[in-house]
Amino acid sequence: MNRVAINAAEAGVRINRHIYGHFSEHLGRCIYGGYWVGEDSPIPNVRGIRKDVVAALRKIKIPNLRWPGGCFADEYHWMDGIGTKSARPKMINTHWGGVTEDNSFGTHEFLDLCKQLECEPYICGNVGSGTVQELSQWVEYCNFDGVSPMADLRGKNGRKEPWQVKFWGIGNESWGCGGNMTPEFYADNYRRYAVYARSYGKPLYKIACGPNTDDYNWTKVLMEKTCGDRGPLLDGLSLHYYTVPGEWAYKGSATEFTENEWLITMRKAYYMEELLSKHSAIMDQYDPKKKVGLVVDEWGTWFDVEPGTNPGFLYQQNSLRDALVAGIHFNIFNNNADRVHMANIAQTINVLQSVILTEGAKMTLTPTYHVFDMYKVHQDAVRLPVYVESENVSLGFGSIPAVTASASVDEQEKAHVSLTNIDVKEEKTVTLELRGFPFKNVSGTIITSTNIQDHNTFEKGDTVKIAPFSGASMAQGGVTVKLPPKSVVTLELA
Ligand code: AHR
Repeated sequence: MNRVAINAAEAGVRINRHIYGHFSEHLGRCIYGGYWVGEDSPIPNVRGIRKDVVAALRKIKIPNLRWPGGCFADEYHWMDGIGTKSARPKMINTHWGGVTEDNSFGTHEFLDLCKQLECEPYICGNVGSGTVQELSQWVEYCNFDGVSPMADLRGKNGRKEPWQVKFWGIGNESWGCGGNMTPEFYADNYRRYAVYARSYGKPLYKIACGPNTDDYNWTKVLMEKTCGDRGPLLDGLSLHYYTVPGEWAYKGSATEFTENEWLITMRKAYYMEELLSKHSAIMDQYDPKKKVGLVVDEWGTWFDVEPGTNPGFLYQQNSLRDALVAGIHFNIFNNNADRVHMANIAQTINVLQSVILTEGAKMTLTPTYHVFDMYKVHQDAVRLPVYVESENVSLGFGSIPAVTASASVDEQEKAHVSLTNIDVKEEKTVTLELRGFPFKNVSGTIITSTNIQDHNTFEKGDTVKIAPFSGASMAQGGVTVKLPPKSVVTLELA
């Protein structure tokens, strides 16, 4: 028996739209070729930024974009990316393929991109190989409105008005590629960097580097050292966790996988729930009112690269399996919205679990894109807590639930319930009970496909797409949902 019970009287927490955020790094073809083609490109663009990509991302209401990394952030010196393009120094992108980075896409280009996308920028600063002064000046360059060395420099580079960037990351993966630091060393550094990242006018939202996966000690030390008597010195703590079906050495193919690998992938995606609950429990000890957000600023699937592509570029296809992984993550994030303030899929275009793939002038939208589209109704809506009872799916060694769910009610008083069914073969009948929420109609959309490996290509971009859902019918006190195998569904109750 599968049952989802919702009591509208328990509504309260708002689902921060930033949970549906993105991450784009100077990695492979994410920035160059993905967003940026240059003003002289035959590919239609506005000031060098692809029009087709901007239109697609605006459709899913992208709320924020994290940049420039990732590991790249802790080697990036922002001043190399401003001023006359031909005079910008070149650098080696040591982490990602050892290619030459010509710095043609820098701060002005990124902030223009965010303006075109109508999303909030989230800049990650360099702590690993940078200086306090460098980060401090970057904030001044972006945000100070008045006479100052950095505001003047910005003016000389053609931008008088400050951008007022709110979200700032103080380093990335400082436990690894961002400097190999201990939590104690990083926490002390965080405190120092954070002081000089000044708020000019509007307060900043400062995000400290948080743990890798299940490094609970990192969370404890960071919270201990930043949440003392003077109140929290941070607004967010990041968490990185990737869904890797195999081992790092052999992660598995993005499109050629068995049913067993599908289930293992789902089990690994479900692990996000345990991570959030355990890190949050530690944070509660220092921040019981949950003022500090968990910012899951890197999540998604990580498979072996597509055969024949540069291993340093992390280019992978995206199948129905990725759609399920996305739906599961969004249900988990929505259900933990009291602590999760932001999340960023890695990465938007041509890298890891992308929502868009490009090749020259061609573009295709992935199954993951469509899940973002289906879930955008939850952005800034009020969460409705869900109680889920689900049948299990056997893994051979234990089992995992078939069904996950999350729900919210929007400003127009429409409720949305999103459901996933990971069972490859069996439809699940779900009894949806909704107390205290009168409604007259139920409608919905679904994403599923014939085969679990189905994906979209440049030649055939509509193999996996959103379709109207007719499997929900009104029942006494709720709705009966016939949830097809391997599907993600969003219902609207009005
Ligand atoms: O997203 C790819 C890489 O994964 C990022 O650069 C890094 O932060 C993480 O290890």
